[in-house]
Amino acid sequence: MSCVSALYSFDIGRKPAMRAAQEEQAMGETTHIPVLVSAILEAFRRTDGRTFLDCTLGGGGHSRAILETFPNAKLWAMDADAAAIERARISLPADRAHIYHGNFVTLDKLPQRNFDGILLDLGVSSDQLENGERGFSFRLDGPMDMRMDRSCGRTAEEFLETESRSELIEAIRNYGEEPLWKKIVDAIEAARGTGKLSRTGSFAELVRRVLPTSYRTKIDPATRAFQGIRIAVNGELNALKEALPKAFAALEVGGVLAVISFHSLEDRIVKQYFREWSGLPVDQFDSRTADERVARGQLLVDKPIVPDVEEILRNPRSRSAKLRLFRKGEEEFLGGGD
Ligand SMILES: C[S@@+](CC[C@H](N)C(=O)[O-])C[C@H]1O[C@@H](n2cnc3c(N)ncnc32)[C@H](O)[C@@H]1O
Repeated sequence: MSCVSALYSFDIGRKPAMRAAQEEQAMGETTHIPVLVSAILEAFRRTDGRTFLDCTLGGGGHSRAILETFPNAKLWAMDADAAAIERARISLPADRAHIYHGNFVTLDKLPQRNFDGILLDLGVSSDQLENGERGFSFRLDGPMDMRMDRSCGRTAEEFLETESRSELIEAIRNYGEEPLWKKIVDAIEAARGTGKLSRTGSFAELVRRVLPTSYRTKIDPATRAFQGIRIAVNGELNALKEALPKAFAALEVGGVLAVISFHSLEDRIVKQYFREWSGLPVDQFDSRTADERVARGQLLVDKPIVPDVEEILRNPRSRSAKLRLFRKGEEEFLGGGD
């Protein structure tokens, strides 16, 4: 089944995967610490504050903070991961939170069509990373799965075993930004059919073995390859490109869209959309004159907001987070040439 076609209300339809996730996860408490919470709440306070959409529910930290800060607001929340949905079902108030299992590209299928605040907090949660069975971590041995939604799509193992060389290059070189991508792609192709691509432990070892020892810097040599494969397996950049215009369309006038990214490729996509909607040149190659650009809102911050030292010390995973904020306004033709 396609990973982006279905959207399941918690109350209406339940996929079999959801039951499996329920049994296997035993619903421990989330270990995920939400990032840049006060900056997001401050931006959302500039809206009417009645309806919010959390597109990436995860451990529910941002959703809970929104419900606490806006006691009269209603929240719609979604996640591709059934385990996140199950956990949130227990911890969020059923009378104020409407929870959906699905990819955020389906946000336009939600019964609520307009929101004062929309949040996308991209990437994976600590709950996913710290569960070896999910296959996201090279530190924990487990199946090479890496799917956020385990009810559909290909696992990372299937991707590595069957994908074309050009797709492998796209994942490791472009999404993983791995300078020594060729050595890794060659090793993947040579390891097909041997079983070495089936476990995170054996795959991480294979990557470490083909990279020179001088390459072992502060980060594990397998870091970039894992990141690139995860982005490819989940179609993360395409999902973001597809979802952002839908999020814009779903914003009330005066509503705020907040996006946290952890990767320069994601951040570039967010930046370009936000500049386009603000009537600014998208990048240095944008040759349109001001007459041709239309502002449909404004950037709330020129540069992305990043965590301060205290937040990074408290939550080291926040260190690469970048928050961009956009506020929707009435359409305004800029006019007047450049
Ligand atoms: C960084 S975590 C969010 C953490 C959350 N804000 C919190 O406070 O706990 C990212 C979450 O987004 C989900 N996710 C990533 N891409 C998604 C997509 N395309 N559609 C729906 N959920 C997605 C992941 O499954 C993960 O649970």
